[in-house]
Amino acid sequence: MLQTRVNSGLDGVIVADTAMSEVDGEAGRLIVRGHTVEELVATCGFEGVAALLWDGFAQGGGDERAVREGFASARGRAFAEVPKLLQAAKGLTPVEGLRVGLGMLADSELMPHHYLVCGALPVFLAALLRTSEGKSALAPDPTLSTAQDLLRMIRGQRADAVFEQALDAYLATIADHGFNASTFTARVVASTHAGLISSVLAGLCALKGPLHGGAPGPVLDMFDEIGSLERASAWFDDAFSKGTTLMGFGHRIYKVRDPRADVLKNTVATLPQTAGRLAFAVEVEKSAIAALRRYKPGRRLDTNVEYYTALLLEALEIPRSAFTALFAVGRSAGWCAHIFEQEKGGRIIRPQSNYVGPRPITWGGSPRR
Ligand code: ACO
Repeated sequence: MLQTRVNSGLDGVIVADTAMSEVDGEAGRLIVRGHTVEELVATCGFEGVAALLWDGFAQGGGDERAVREGFASARGRAFAEVPKLLQAAKGLTPVEGLRVGLGMLADSELMPHHYLVCGALPVFLAALLRTSEGKSALAPDPTLSTAQDLLRMIRGQRADAVFEQALDAYLATIADHGFNASTFTARVVASTHAGLISSVLAGLCALKGPLHGGAPGPVLDMFDEIGSLERASAWFDDAFSKGTTLMGFGHRIYKVRDPRADVLKNTVATLPQTAGRLAFAVEVEKSAIAALRRYKPGRRLDTNVEYYTALLLEALEIPRSAFTALFAVGRSAGWCAHIFEQEKGGRIIRPQSNYVGPRPITWGGSPRR
């Protein structure tokens, strides 16, 4: 029988079994293929997490070395597309540029598409950033990991190991996270058998929004506006009087603190000269949480991953305009994993809607206006 109760945000609706990851919103825990996010970051880099996610689903799955080689060769392949990309992406933001870049990749490409997209995103992002600063794009180095090479291609030279490790930790932390909006979008497109590149591109488009992957840039804008700690409480009073949504707080699933926030906060602490900024962020966070309790009592809102993402990417000297695009580099591994899983066992995803428009007059309805 047709149900007419509308659940516009699909809260609590379970649409698939998945072996990829579990987000426990009550306990504040994230498990990725049997490992806690804290374990993953301590033991695996980005390539290791991709190999884990793809294990049993795709070429290279379970084999970190194969993934590292696959990514390296895909970065080389993608670099050949950079001149065309730069021509087509003039005047666009980095995430818009990645949208163009993924759109340029052909379904007829022979290289396995999961490698291709995961290799192309860092190359395209670095090229877009370099050229926005009037510098020429650097060719990838196949001997490096994604994090090492991405920082090198952005900066023009290898970064200190501590920065490379921090970026690697970030990419590993955000690689997968249940049925978030972009992953679900990618799976919907995959369910039509449109192919991996189209499905990843759809995921990227969903990630771009400020309610999902677009939040960390505005977290830094908020820090700028607050300016100094003694202004924080008044700033939040003013923000709530205007109905402002605080970026970096709240989550559909987590009713407690997002565990990734602390993983990234600890990563920021490993970087030189971050103590002052970190102390500021911690105090602003306390003030934000207090304001959320005051103005949104009972809503169970807490810090999400994007709050300390903002701080970490700032410490890595990534421009704010590129934060969402960088998120896509890490999340691409998870999107691919979910696409494989969807293709392997899923049916076309096709929900129902409740029609509230006019009915034909011949059926006894009122005339259309
Ligand atoms: N600041 C202020 N109030 C908030 C916030 C926030 N960040 N988040 C939720 N609320 C309030 C809502 O206004 C609503 O209040 P009401 O009951 O008075 O109307 C209540 O809490 C419930 O909020 P919903 O919007 O129903 O929560 P939902 O689960 O739909 O939204 C979302 C989740 C989109 C993440 C939301 O919390 C938000 O916009 N946060 C800020 C953006 C952000 O940081 N996004 C990144 C999330 S992590 C990620 O995607 C990688």
